[in-house]
Order: sequence, then structure tokens, then C-alpha cells
Amino acid sequence: MDIKKLLKKMTLDQKIAQLCQFNARCLLPDVTGEITGPAKALDLTKEDIAYCGSTLTFADANSMIEVQKKHLELDPNKIPLLFMHDVIHGYRTLYPIQLALGASWDADIVKECSRMSARESAAGGVHVTFSPMVDLVRDARWGRCMESCGEDPYLNSVMARAQVEGFQGNLDSDEDICACVKHFAAYGAAEGGRDYNTVDMSEYNLRENYLAAYKSAVEAGAQMIMASFNTINGVPAIANKWLLKDVLRDEWGFDKPVISDYAAFAELTAHGYSPDDKESARLALNATADIEMMSTCYLKNLRALVEEGKVSEEQIDESVLRILELKDKLGLFENPYRYANPEKEKALALCPEHRAIARKAAQKCAVLLKNDDILPFDKNIKNIAVIGPWSDVGMIGEWPGHGEPEEAVTVIEGIKNALASSNVTMAKGCEGVLNELPDDKRINEAVKTAKEADAVILCVGEHSKQSGEAHSRADINLSPAQARLVKEVCSANKNTVCVLFCGRPIVLTDIIDTVPAIFVAWQPGTEGGNAIADLIFGNVNFEGRLPMTFPLCVGQVPIYYSQMSTGRPQLQPDQIYCSRYIDCPNEPLFPFGYGLSYTSFEISSPVLSQAQMDKNDTVVVSAKVKNTGGVSGKAVVQLYIRDLFASRTRPVKELKGFTKVALEAGEEKEVSFEITEKDLAFYGASGNFEAEAGDFHIFLALDSTSKDFVTLNLK
Ligand code: NOJ
Repeated sequence: MDIKKLLKKMTLDQKIAQLCQFNARCLLPDVTGEITGPAKALDLTKEDIAYCGSTLTFADANSMIEVQKKHLELDPNKIPLLFMHDVIHGYRTLYPIQLALGASWDADIVKECSRMSARESAAGGVHVTFSPMVDLVRDARWGRCMESCGEDPYLNSVMARAQVEGFQGNLDSDEDICACVKHFAAYGAAEGGRDYNTVDMSEYNLRENYLAAYKSAVEAGAQMIMASFNTINGVPAIANKWLLKDVLRDEWGFDKPVISDYAAFAELTAHGYSPDDKESARLALNATADIEMMSTCYLKNLRALVEEGKVSEEQIDESVLRILELKDKLGLFENPYRYANPEKEKALALCPEHRAIARKAAQKCAVLLKNDDILPFDKNIKNIAVIGPWSDVGMIGEWPGHGEPEEAVTVIEGIKNALASSNVTMAKGCEGVLNELPDDKRINEAVKTAKEADAVILCVGEHSKQSGEAHSRADINLSPAQARLVKEVCSANKNTVCVLFCGRPIVLTDIIDTVPAIFVAWQPGTEGGNAIADLIFGNVNFEGRLPMTFPLCVGQVPIYYSQMSTGRPQLQPDQIYCSRYIDCPNEPLFPFGYGLSYTSFEISSPVLSQAQMDKNDTVVVSAKVKNTGGVSGKAVVQLYIRDLFASRTRPVKELKGFTKVALEAGEEKEVSFEITEKDLAFYGASGNFEAEAGDFHIFLALDSTSKDFVTLNLK
């Protein structure tokens, strides 16, 4: 399609309409009749609906085909709609939430999961998914921790790339959809962990930590970016010219569409940044925002702004071109339905191959926090009790696509599938609602059930709907009811494993000494119950590691391993005038990178191929990692660096690489990583990423707390 020729033919109103995105419900049944429902609420005319450029949130391939067909009948230029959808942790077959994927430390499985959902959703008619969400998160109170791969810029960047590659492939097959990276930028740094709240941070912190994963996604070829709801240093992201134009477009070379988040244009007024929709439209266009999702600032005001000379038609043309180019790249002018295929959509949904991927992912993402030698349970166990509010609940996460909790394997189902001949009993013990107080009768029933069993699986934590958008929490402890349930059940039966469901780190301090064993299952998706049974009975070993620090108490957050030293780091436990709390240690309950398995590993001190390097050198750091336990397992070897002195202070540790090493019992392997100037670089006082001469500590470790380093000097 000759896009430029098409553009020339379009009227100003038709161009403006390309920049508008409405929910599919606005476009359907009223297209030829009265304007009602959501379309009426937005005050849309028949023309607005007929010309508009894209839509979001539609039911399935059939509805996509219907909407596109109606649209093409009405659109004077026959420009197909782009169909967008939140395919976050699966379309119909659901895999673990993104925080769990971060815990896999396994880019291959993350890519495989994204491919699976691209395959399913492409058949469902999706062209663009609003994923991956790569916001860095360091505050466990924020509900949207569950959508991110965690607290570390490097781990997040690796996972951002894996997801973009998984969704997009080469964008030329029926397994490929476009990735829209979000939420640009720094949405995860909302003050107080309260959703939609202000973000205020130095450019140094922003560029070095928060922008890293978006950049990685852009470099991996992501086709769209969604601007975030928040302000950054006083300017809302969607109207932030510095962020969108100077950084994203001019510095990073991103020439593809930028979309707003839901009604974020209109929210510029509530932010106190723009007095009305007209000014919001002007500000957003000047910032090079292309698509307005679910508000009408562009639609109702751009024409007047052009006529008044406040924006130019050329600016609008640039945005329209970016959108038309994407439609052309996807071949929509030739085939507006692309890969929408109701039969294929049905055949792929929950198919055995996809269930197998979801199961493998849930196994890899689980993190074993404690095991007093009670796990794995014997498969010949006679009487097993599944206790807790989430025993029989499908935990599919906050963005379940078109999946349903009823389609997911619950823990009790997974246990029954694994132990067909055992006697499995169940007691919930409490409801699982937030802040729930204990009910003696229900707890006593659960205790009785626990006493009568040979082993107990205790399912506590958060329901899928207790984290996610607009689900920030001020208290991230278990509820009083769940905490008492854990304590009483664990004292009633010492053979109890606690399965923690959550979309964020939970404070476990109050219960950790009572539980003989506990692992984090996150929100594991469609195959959760089967994967949990696989782990509990030792069919597979644990290989997940924490992608976010688990605090000792909520007052420690934001807490993350890569903190600054400060001028008064705490060096002794009884030190007073130092950076510490007087009522709580600085250390978390479980650090970033931590996780146990059914075997144990040891790693030797790191060794460098050379102790001094020039800027062009590649230095190799290596160590021997050994499986010192009795079964095979996978060690996650983590490369950290510390830059000792620099023109800006540097974190006490920064992750720069990781690898999984499969080891048989007793086996030892050498692991090595290459270090180049890029790994030592940071956003320095000069305003560039570069390494400064001096000493660096290099760690090869099994979690972020290692003190065993070797010194590398950069000349
Ligand atoms: C609002 C959310 O912030 C965003 O992540 C999502 O993609 C859009 N709604 C569309 O559903």
C-alpha cells in the first residue's frame, strides 16, 4: 500500500480519527443505529465510529471479524482497524504472572510463554498486545508488582527482550503479534506504592534503573509504546515532550506509534496540568503522542487547534503515518482480518501443548524459601489434607485474558491428579479476604483436618484479585485469620508445607519460624495445581529465585538489594549513628536472587582472566559451581559488580549477568562470564553511559548477599 498517497487523499477529520481508539463495544452493535452505551458516554457520532483507527478489548475472532467488516463497510478510505488487547500472561491458556516469570531467571521459558499467547491471540484476531509491562518495581505495596519482572534493571531488561521476541517473532507468521511496551515511564515508582501516584526522581536514577527495560524492549523491535498514567518530575508522561520526543524518539530512534493509557489524555486536567481537553490535545500532540485511548481530546479538538494555528497538520500527518505504516507492515490492507480464525482459536485454547508450556513455566517460577527437610513429600502418603482459602481456587492472575478460574487446575485437583489412591481432605479455615479476623470455629475445623492427615498442604497468601491495577496495599502481611491459620495448622501437623500465592512480596516474618516449609507459587495460571503437585512430590526440582526482595516488615519498603552505601553504612549491629532503623534490621527476610532447591550448591571464589583491563578489553570471570546435595538440580549463578568510587555514587551491588547450570548430584562445572566496558558503565556526571577508571568488585554468587569478590581495575 502506498501510505503517503493514501494520506494525501484523507480529509483532516479522517486523519484525526486514525488517532482515536475506542473499546470494541463502542463500535459494535450501534454502528448503523442509535448511539448508545459507551459510545454515547463518549459523545461519539456515527462518523467518529466509522473513521476511527483502532479498537481495544474485544471478545474473540468472531467479534473481531464482525467489527472489522462493519468498519470497512463504513470507512470511506477502507482503512482497516488495528485490534489491540491486554494479552498479558496468556490469552486463554494462562501462564504465571510476570513477577513469577522474573523468578524463573529463564529467558527461554519466558519467550516460549509469550509465543504461546501470541499464537492463541493471533488466531483470536489480536494485532497488538498491551504487553510486556516492564516497569521496574521496588515497592511491594504497589498492586502492579505482579505485572513486572521485578526490582532489577538487568533482569527486567532480559525479560523485556524475551517477551518482545516471543510475541513478535518476525511479525510475518500466524504466530506473531505486535508488542506494545508499557508503561513509559517509571510507573512502578509511584510514591508510597499507591497506584497512579506521582513519580519524582533524578534523571540519573530514571535513566540508569527505570528506563533500562523499556530501552531493551525498543532495541528488541517492539512496535508500540504506551505512555504511563503518572507524572515524571511534574509532567504527566503522555504530555511529556522531554520523555516522548527527546528521549524516546530522538535519542532512542523510536519511530513507531505511542499510545496513551486508558483516558490518560483527559486525565491531564485532573493532574492539574491542562485546564481542558483542548489544551490536553495540544500538549499531547506536541509531545508526539499518536493514539488516544478511550477519551476524545484529539477527536473533539484537533481540527480547531489546526484552524487556530496552535498545532500543524504536518504534526498530525506524522502521527497518522506511524499508524498507517504499522497497519501496512501487518498486511492489513491486503487482509484486514489477518490471522483471525475462529476454528483455530478454539483448537489452540487450552490445547495439551499449551497446557504443557504453562505447567513447565509454573514449575520453573516457584521459589522455595524454607524447607526443614520435610519436602519432597512421599508419593505413597495415605492421608493428605489441603487446607487454606486457596485450596480449591484457580489462581490465574489479574490479567486472565479470556481464561476463567474454573479452567485452571486448583491445588486440590493437582494433588488428586498426582496421588490417585490417597485420601485427600480439605478445610478452608478462612475466607481469604483482606484484613480478615480469625473465626475460631473455622480454624478449629482446619486444625482437626490437619491432625487427621499424614501431611498438609496449606494454601495461603493473596487471591489473583488482591493485586494488580488499582490494588495497592498499605499492609502486605497475611491477614490475622491467615496468620493464625498457618500457626495453628503448623503446630497441629509438623508435616506441613505452606504454598504462598501472591502478586507481590508478602511479609512473612510473623509465620516464618512456625512453618516447616514454604514456597512461593505466585499466581501460577492454568496448570498451577499440577505444577505445585509436581514440586511437592519431587517430580521436578525448584529452580526459581526471587526477582524482588521480600521485606522483614512493611516499613522497610522500598527495599532492594542494589542500594547505595550512604556516608554512614551500618557496619556493626550495635552502631548508632548510621543508616538504619532503631526498631528493625536493615536486612530483608529474603534477599533478591534467593531460592532453595532439593539439593544444595556451592560456588568457589571468582577468578579473573586478568586483574586489570583497558576500555577495549574483554575480561573473563569464572568460578566452579558444585552440586553438594543428593539429587540433580539447577544453580542460578549471578554476576554482580560494585564500582567502588565514581563521579556519582554507585550501588553496593548491580546484577550484570546470570546463567542456569544443570548439575547432577556431586557434579561440578565451571561457569564464566565476559566483562566488557559496557558492564562497568553507568549514567555519569557527563550525561553519558560510560565506565570510569578505577576498581570494581566482581562477585559470582548464588544470591545477592555474597561477600566473596575479586577486584578488577579499569585503566
Ligand atoms: C489500563 C492499564 O493501565 C493498562 O495496562 C492497560 O493496557 C489498559 N488499561 C488497557 O486495558
